Amino acid sequence: MYSVPSLKKIYLEYLHANPFNKAPQALFEPADYIMQLGGKRLRPILVLMAYNLFKKEITPALPIAQAVEIFHNFSLVHDDIMDAAPLRRGQPTVHHKYDINTGILSGDVMLIYAYQYLLKIEEQRLIPSIVKVFTDVAEAVCVGQQYDMNFETSDSVTIPEYLSMIENKTALLLVGALKMGAILANAEEQDVYHLGEFGRNVGIAFQLQDDILDTFGDPEKFGKRVGGDIVQNKKTFLVLKTLEVANEVDKNKLLTLMQTHPEDEEKKIEAVKAIFQKNNIQHRADVIKKTYQDKAILHLNSVNIPAERKSQLQALADQLLRRNE
Ligand code: IPE
Ligand code: IPE
Ligand code: MG
Ligand code: MG
Ligand code: MG
Repeated sequence: MYSVPSLKKIYLEYLHANPFNKAPQALFEPADYIMQLGGKRLRPILVLMAYNLFKKEITPALPIAQAVEIFHNFSLVHDDIMDAAPLRRGQPTVHHKYDINTGILSGDVMLIYAYQYLLKIEEQRLIPSIVKVFTDVAEAVCVGQQYDMNFETSDSVTIPEYLSMIENKTALLLVGALKMGAILANAEEQDVYHLGEFGRNVGIAFQLQDDILDTFGDPEKFGKRVGGDIVQNKKTFLVLKTLEVANEVDKNKLLTLMQTHPEDEEKKIEAVKAIFQKNNIQHRADVIKKTYQDKAILHLNSVNIPAERKSQLQALADQLLRRNE
């Protein structure tokens, strides 16, 4: 079994050996910029790990790992335009460093390259089923992103609606990464299913954590603008839970704040954060995050291979969901 750091290293070697590095520079350089900015490389590691659960040598899974990481980065380029985000991984976002049109078109070509990599899969008879998983996930991400934006201007979003939105925009790509790795390894259907459900629950917990960190994270470590979700009036669990548990005064204050786009954004962030803190919202969010984390482990336990082969995946989930950056 490969460890998490060794899988990351193998993936990074493949990434560096396969830059975009093409003309026109204005199209491809931003793609290289975002791909090389770093990040946890969670999704390619998941592809390789799922494959490695069933097969010893992981090289055949590298094109899928690359496709998934390129798709993820494409989605971030467009997400940062939609979220008016200035920072990504501690550096300027693509549309800030270049411009919005660059972000749109470089993002588009990255999505297309994700498919180019899937076509490189050597076991060609498996390409249609892998592309099907990938395409369904890609559609779900768009659906999730649209709900995320619709919710910015709605004051009647429910917690189940929020959970469904984050499942689409974030969790399903983790599901897809794990399933594609397992399918390429010719895993049994039941094992593909349980790995997918592991990914779904890890993914929901992961986005809950991202939403917590967006407000409560350390600006030095987070790499994105802390408070960005509040500025954009995102209806995160933090907001929705406050609307459920707070008194009428706090509730109305929050509702009013979340309908505005004031000049002084820092003041708004502080005011919203104070309402969250008063209502113990970070703890409440941690509790629900933990329920998804626990569900994930139950599914991992149901994957029909010896426990020691699954320990790396378990360790990855634990480490990921403990992160504070
Ligand atoms: C950011 O994903 C987008 C979310 C789904 C929260 P990551 O937190 O995996 O971003 P990088 O790739 O490590 O920067
Ligand atoms: C997830 O949501 C983004 C995508 C699915 C692309 P966010 O908007 O919360 O992600 P960050 O916080 O910008 O990384
Ligand atoms: Mg965003
Ligand atoms: Mg977003
Ligand atoms: Mg976020």
